[in-house]
Amino acid sequence: MNQEELFKNVISHCKEYGFIFQSSEIYDGLSAVYDYGQMGAELKKNIRDFWWKSMVQMHQNIVGIDAAIFMHPTTWKASGHVDAFNDPLIDNKDSKKRYRADVLIEEHIAKINAKAEKEIEKAKARFGETFDEVLYRQTNPRVLEYLNKANDIESRFKNALENNLLDEVRQIIIDCEIVCPISGSKNWTEVRQFNLMFSTQIGSLSEDSNTIYLRPETAQGIFVNYLNVQKTGRMKIPFGIAQTGKAFRNEIVARQFIFRMREFEQMEMQFFVRPGTEMEWYNYWKNTRMKWHQAFGFGDNKHKFHDHLKLAHYANAASDIEFNFPFGFKELEGIHSRTDYDLKQHENHSGKKLQYFDSELNESYVPYVVETSIGLDRLFLAILSEAYQEETLEDGSQRVVLNIAFPLAPIKVAVLPLVNKDGLPEKAQEIVDLLKYDYNVATESKDAIGKRYRRNDAIGTPYCITVDYETLENNTVTIRNRDTMKQERIQIVQINQILRDTVDMSVLLKKC
Ligand code: GAP
Repeated sequence: MNQEELFKNVISHCKEYGFIFQSSEIYDGLSAVYDYGQMGAELKKNIRDFWWKSMVQMHQNIVGIDAAIFMHPTTWKASGHVDAFNDPLIDNKDSKKRYRADVLIEEHIAKINAKAEKEIEKAKARFGETFDEVLYRQTNPRVLEYLNKANDIESRFKNALENNLLDEVRQIIIDCEIVCPISGSKNWTEVRQFNLMFSTQIGSLSEDSNTIYLRPETAQGIFVNYLNVQKTGRMKIPFGIAQTGKAFRNEIVARQFIFRMREFEQMEMQFFVRPGTEMEWYNYWKNTRMKWHQAFGFGDNKHKFHDHLKLAHYANAASDIEFNFPFGFKELEGIHSRTDYDLKQHENHSGKKLQYFDSELNESYVPYVVETSIGLDRLFLAILSEAYQEETLEDGSQRVVLNIAFPLAPIKVAVLPLVNKDGLPEKAQEIVDLLKYDYNVATESKDAIGKRYRRNDAIGTPYCITVDYETLENNTVTIRNRDTMKQERIQIVQINQILRDTVDMSVLLKKC
């Protein structure tokens, strides 16, 4: 199965087993908006809990809040989102399709670079062991031509974006002869900036002053509450405020399933530090967050840092943790050193002091902030695409199994009566009643037992407990492990201990 097939299979698996549905599917769906089904909601909740516990419960100097989605509109003026949270858009006049101008250009550059790489691959195959790739890149005329061309477009494009030269962005599209993938024509409109925030009206009058926004990031809810939390929680610097919640962006190029959505969930933490110590904390959080990702056990090559060379106006350092999705390495989490920019902006716009009195230094200052920001839906996709396996078993039969870390599995244990009669379903229900206070447990009696095992493998259930005639005689059951498929007979009273040792969230928390 290649990566493209894997991605397709993950998407259809999500639908077939109740993880993710297209939003409002009966009305043909709403683009880039998705609903989480009965399995997806559980898995998402477990991932969120894991993040929350590892951030809040495991750090005594981090607390969590739950700020509202709606915020005073000046918040977004202060944060810069009203003026600068834009994408440059262009329409094709023939197909009437709208594109992100930057994406059209970046894809064009990627195509040229791919041609250079193809030449290099061909030469590698031709020359074998003696091939000197560095020299070839520097001297082969065709490769040089491609690489120089891509570089020229890139630097022209960067300059245009940095200086907001929208006519120049359009000219690059014309000069590169980029065509609309639908109409095939080069009949382009002007390029316009398009703000990504969704707006709506508060109250009954539709005046400008009543315009409010659906938050495009959860972070601002933390910034505006920083002093409330610091004072009421008697927090001493360095300390953090964590939050999970929905964010909304009117993404124009929304594809790759739940990777880029218009409504998504973020898990963010702002860490408030003494000015001058921010780089130390930035490095601390970079390493801590990478270790957290590695606790999922996906192997060493699945994550990498991508340090930003070009920084946003508010940052003095920024790095992404990228994950190798089925469509390549892409941003999963951002770690940003945001200086005192946001708090100072809120001071300026609100007229309220947002200073911290540092009793050790005997001085007041606006703290610096190091932020960790991860998309819950992206992490969900990373986990699922890593977990999805199609296996051929020893007897030649096939199974699909979700190798999700046990503590994250939507259902921890399925209690299955061997047959649907003779008191076995009732005995199974007794076991469910014993476990349900601590774990999400399921029971089902329809279909042959083998079919029920397969169904539970496909949703990632770590254990299947089978209740058979022997259970009625001596209170023993068989317990089947999802990964090894091995079964052993145990006493009913042993089940709880096995679950505590393997499916409790603490198992995962101890790894990070
Ligand atoms: N407060 C900083 C912030 O919002 P960001 O890089 O724009 O930074 C942080 O977003 C994370 O949110 C990303 O790393 C990504 O995981 C997730 N994210 C951003 N836009 C998204 C979208 N349209 N759909 C799904 N997840 C998204």
